[in-house]
Amino acid sequence: MKKALVPGTFDPITNGHLDIIGRASALVDEVILAVAASKKKQPLFTLEERVELAQEACAPFSNVNVLPFEGLLVDFAKECGTSIVIKGLRAITDFEYEFQMAALNDHLSKGFETIFIMSSPEYMFLSSSIVRELASLKTPADDFVPACVSQALRNKY
Ligand code: PNS
Repeated sequence: MKKALVPGTFDPITNGHLDIIGRASALVDEVILAVAASKKKQPLFTLEERVELAQEACAPFSNVNVLPFEGLLVDFAKECGTSIVIKGLRAITDFEYEFQMAALNDHLSKGFETIFIMSSPEYMFLSSSIVRELASLKTPADDFVPACVSQALRNKY
């Protein structure tokens, strides 16, 4: 049984994430959507809120489970019984950071495998930070996020 983590801060989860999650869920038997505490990033949504929104948004995918984690990704992956991570890549700008993280995780846990899925063209420009910025400027982000996230953003601002 192949299991993979799809990690991120998901502050909040977007349609771009859901594109990657859906495609990852077709490649493996189980996807664990690993929602990082990412305290240093001072997320807009609490960890509990981000997990709840991700759970609601991922409900259509029967083999996706959403779990929160703190600490190193490699340690959480071990706890979950996998050494495979799947991440989305939008553009060249993502590459350097992701390449560094993949190499570091391989160093921390030999054999740790990071697989990249290229973002679909319609989501190349999309990020959680853009969604937060739109919402903070009272501009609906409805085209870019699932309905539960639109509502949560309205409640925040
Ligand atoms: O959605 P993001 O914020 O780009 O996701 C980044 C994330 C959460 C996947 C990454 O920061 C991560 O793996 N954090 C866990 C801590 C860790 O293992 N860091 C790498 C070594 S310093």
